[in-house]
Amino acid sequence: MESSVNQRWIIHYTFLYFTFISATLYLLQTLISPQLILGHQPITLKTNPPLPLRFSSLGAFKILQVADMHFGNGAVTRCRDVLPSEFDACSDLNTTRFLRRLIDAERPDFVAFTGDNIFGTSAADAAESLFKAFSPVMESRLPWAAVLGNHDQKSTMTREELMTFISLMDYSLSQINPPEDPSDPAIGRLLGDIDGFGNYNLSVNGAAGSHLANSSVLNLFFLDSGDRATVGELQTYGWIKESQLRWLRGLSQGFLSPPTETPALAFFHIPVPEVRQLYLKEIVGQFQQPVSCSMVNSGVLQSLVSMGDVKAVFVGHDHTNDFCGNLGGIWFCYGGGCGYHGYGRAGWPRRARIIVAELGKGERAWMAVERIRTWKRLDDEKLSKIDEQVLWDLHRPQ
Ligand SMILES: *[C@@H]1O[C@H](CO)[C@@H](O)[C@H](O)[C@H]1NC(C)=O
Ligand SMILES: *[C@@H]1O[C@H](CO)[C@@H](O)[C@H](O)[C@H]1NC(C)=O
Ligand SMILES: *[C@@H]1O[C@H](CO)[C@@H](O)[C@H](O)[C@H]1NC(C)=O
Repeated sequence: MESSVNQRWIIHYTFLYFTFISATLYLLQTLISPQLILGHQPITLKTNPPLPLRFSSLGAFKILQVADMHFGNGAVTRCRDVLPSEFDACSDLNTTRFLRRLIDAERPDFVAFTGDNIFGTSAADAAESLFKAFSPVMESRLPWAAVLGNHDQKSTMTREELMTFISLMDYSLSQINPPEDPSDPAIGRLLGDIDGFGNYNLSVNGAAGSHLANSSVLNLFFLDSGDRATVGELQTYGWIKESQLRWLRGLSQGFLSPPTETPALAFFHIPVPEVRQLYLKEIVGQFQQPVSCSMVNSGVLQSLVSMGDVKAVFVGHDHTNDFCGNLGGIWFCYGGGCGYHGYGRAGWPRRARIIVAELGKGERAWMAVERIRTWKRLDDEKLSKIDEQVLWDLHRPQ
């Protein structure tokens, strides 16, 4: 038992080491000119953002959700589904430009990428495509995290390699999977026991100077919803497996201990099958294409409802759906497609979602999270802000 654990550990870290070396070599080769390396630019390892994540002195924490960048190779990669008049001057660089505009306009505290960050089929080199796709967020020095979609792995890296690489990029808080915890019988989990790559949680602490300054007041859960799978003889999309849900339920149980329930938000790529039901319900935003989910219903919604802490889920995958709808007290929101090389609708601007959590105001200092709101920004001239809504209000439970 002991030795097999050690072995896994060694294999894992050997793998990490090699991926890291290839990442570094790549950096040297293409991003930094040789002159700089041999000159006075020190070769630095990953730059981490300041931690812990925390609410600002204004009592807010703002997240920018970026769905489906579908990045290819940059300037040479053409746009899909833009107006004929827009086609000639349009490439992946428009996605880059949109991301920069979003960051400048909203000044978020954190950026969450919900998969199909790169479009593997078009990307000649996954590492290069990742660097280009995430360059605006790395330049902004904002903390960020990503999960994978179903298209990321189709070029030169496997899903494990992609998540490893992404976790080593500057200011990234992404993790391959949660650290192993064999000591916890409730979880009883070893690395590799969780399906997929990119299952992890992040905590956001209360405002500095408040009594919650050292406690998580908002939890962020990231899950790998897979790519494709064959069930019997049928091809379908991936789904979140029981191993992932077991980990998530264990995690959330730990957070639900008194005194206060800490609200959580979840991020993954492929919507759950129940999102289809929203076609007949009241939604905010547009439902323009069928929900392309897995034919397997693994009970994600049921798990989230039983956990109680997740107030909203943010997905991508269906680029021309951008709505939020409520299922069993939990909001399911699409980001709306952000990338120009991904399919879309000509004349229907590419878009992204903003989520802001706000703290309650106490007599002398900030308290716990009181409200969660969301809206979208369109990539038009004015970066139009649309569909603002409240997702959760502590004093008005659903
Ligand atoms: C793409 O970017 C170019 C150059 O910045 C700009 O002229 C063009 O209008 C953009 N196209 C779209 C569809 O946003
Ligand atoms: C994830 O949650 C656990 C609590 O179960 C916490 O100890 C850990 O710090 C969290 N991870 C991060 C990166 O915030
Ligand atoms: C939070 O931690 C800091 C540093 O350890 C400490 O100075 C401060 O008193 C703590 N605040 C609370 C409310 O526990």
